Amino acid sequence: MTGKLPILELQNVDKSFGPIDVLHKISLRVHEGEVLCLLGDNGAGKSTLIKTLAGVHRPTGGKILMDGKEVQFKGPKEAAARGIATVHQFGGTFPLMSIGRSFFVGVEPARGWGPFKVFDRKRANEIAVKAVQGFGITRIDDGDRLVGGLSGGERQALAIARAVYFGARVLILDEPTAALGVKQAAHVLRIVNEAKRRGLAVIFITHQVMHAMTVGDHFTVLIRGAIAADFRKGEKTREEITDLMAGGETMADLEASIEGYMESHAGNPPPVA
Ligand SMILES: Nc1ncnc2c1ncn2[C@@H]1O[C@H](COP(=O)(O)OP(=O)(O)O)[C@@H](O)[C@H]1O
Ligand SMILES: [Mg+2]
Repeated sequence: MTGKLPILELQNVDKSFGPIDVLHKISLRVHEGEVLCLLGDNGAGKSTLIKTLAGVHRPTGGKILMDGKEVQFKGPKEAAARGIATVHQFGGTFPLMSIGRSFFVGVEPARGWGPFKVFDRKRANEIAVKAVQGFGITRIDDGDRLVGGLSGGERQALAIARAVYFGARVLILDEPTAALGVKQAAHVLRIVNEAKRRGLAVIFITHQVMHAMTVGDHFTVLIRGAIAADFRKGEKTREEITDLMAGGETMADLEASIEGYMESHAGNPPPVA
């Protein structure tokens, strides 16, 4: 990927809400066919950062570039039109709608029913099922089924397949595996790999280090709204990454201090704060 312009780049992006400074001088790049993992504890600013990328928030300072040119999104629709797609933890699809119908929601007014002249249920189902199966989810074979009957991982798959079908170039996944069991999470990680293979740039937000290590090419750790570390695959161990996310306080230090407390308090563990 070297030598090629990043699809998306942030240069010194700041974001404040009134007097509250949330993001400080964030610079990052993501190339096609690359997974950038954005790691950070709760409250680190991950969601604020991706909302800024997706046109929900305007940066207070700094620049966003796509293919080397500065862009300014007036809203999420503009970011989406440039190929930035965000998929949230629960897939963002509509539980009471059929799979085929949900696939084309929001497409009609902008694109004249996408591939149809009028809405064609059978074709919509075929397209949706084929798109999801293309990501390896063969269990979804009936577009008339309701989205609400799908598992969390399947909903993610549907949302990702939909974004890719409609031309996403940058796929932003906000904690996609956080609420999933091991098997479902593995499904989603496989889908991330498939999106990468198809040349998308993926920004994968998580606080689960193992999930990040499974798919990530590049890692950025966010602490209190600033980049605390930035490294490539293989440069750090799981323990080092976990410690970085905890703000430099190592798990070993923490355990030692708990042990120390117990020794001086007749074997009683410290009270929970
Ligand atoms: N609209 C807002 N107004 C004021 N503060 C906000 C707003 N959105 C987020 N924040 C603050 O920004 C910080 C980071 O939040 P967030 O981006 O949701 O973190 P994360 O997704 O990493 O858990 C938090 O302290 C949060 O209270
Ligand atoms: Mg968040």
